[in-house]
Amino acid sequence: MDTKKINELLENVRRDSGGAFLTGLAYIGDRLGLFQALAENGPLDSPRLAELSGTQERYVREWLKALTAFGYVEHDPDAATWWLTAEQAAVLADEESPTLAMGTFQFALPSLLHTNELIEAFRHGGGIAYEDLNPEIAPAIDRMHRGWFEHQLTGSWIPAIPGLDERLRHGISVLDVGCGLGRSTAALARAYPESRITGIDPHEPSVEAALEMTAGLANSRVEQSTLAEAAARAETGGPTFDLVLAIDCIHDMTDPVGALRDARRVLTDDGLIVWSEPSGSSNPLDNRDDSLARVRAALSPYHCLTVSLATGGAGLGTIIGEDGARRLAAEAGYENFEILPVESPLQAFYGLRKQARDPGEEQVGEPNRTRRD
Ligand SMILES: C[S@@+](CC[C@H](N)C(=O)[O-])C[C@H]1O[C@@H](n2cnc3c(N)ncnc32)[C@H](O)[C@@H]1O
Repeated sequence: MDTKKINELLENVRRDSGGAFLTGLAYIGDRLGLFQALAENGPLDSPRLAELSGTQERYVREWLKALTAFGYVEHDPDAATWWLTAEQAAVLADEESPTLAMGTFQFALPSLLHTNELIEAFRHGGGIAYEDLNPEIAPAIDRMHRGWFEHQLTGSWIPAIPGLDERLRHGISVLDVGCGLGRSTAALARAYPESRITGIDPHEPSVEAALEMTAGLANSRVEQSTLAEAAARAETGGPTFDLVLAIDCIHDMTDPVGALRDARRVLTDDGLIVWSEPSGSSNPLDNRDDSLARVRAALSPYHCLTVSLATGGAGLGTIIGEDGARRLAAEAGYENFEILPVESPLQAFYGLRKQARDPGEEQVGEPNRTRRD
């Protein structure tokens, strides 16, 4: 046996198991306002932090020592004070920051609490339905994706798709599929007042939050509905849409191929489907050195896989890769599959249309021809 390889593996076990406990501590710090108190008032000593946050000093001191060891908090041993740098605050404390990452911890800890149910699913099949997940999980997903929808969706993603920003400014109808807590629906409605944005999601608590999130935006609607239901309505005189947006949701649906077919059923003849999936490779070996893809691979059984299998679904898991996306599109009967020219390390963007286009024809969201199939 190669001792160096054993030591490397032991090092990874220490790093990753430490990360599991750190997740719990970060979750605690978030819930109790420790990060915010440090960001707003630091440098602080531990009695003052405990006082400001209404917590017990001895626990807070141990929390500070652990968070400092992980590089999340700064410390002056002589002055016995602790603080956050501007960068630490931007990632750990500032709710408005585009780089806030606390949603990841808020997602991870409640997900891990489902471990016993997951063990049963490993043994007997089935899974944990989305509506049976810990109620913190849908809001945590919204928090994880807040930066996407408040900064990137209308700031860089849509403008990168040729022609789409212009059409939205002029006024088109948009279906935001799997809108969750409605942050994407609200962002689109605000940025494009001439367009009509409909968010749909079957998850009742998310829809209730989405109705609040979009309150006062006259060009938005939110409905508790699946995509299949919207498609059935479209075929019986209900609304059709020029743009169908499906962000980070197709892979964990019960029937992803059916969903892509349903997206075509709600689409106007010259409409565009913009469909995004978590980045990462379908070959797990490619994901070894990619910290984000590793997180996604690890959360997959806890979330994307299990919510789909719970309803007898396809169970694709979190990372389908470009090859998986191409396969789904082909199975759903699309003759064209476009890789949209959106630069994002987080999501891969695909474009689908109802029918193959005449070369040279200008449409909503003119694709990047160089990368088109
Ligand atoms: C991972 S969340 C993503 C939410 C949001 N798009 C985002 O990126 O934050 C997936 C969402 O898809 C919704 N969903 C699941 N099946 C659906 C279906 N058949 N039709 C529409 N939405 C669905 C879920 O309720 C959930 O809110």
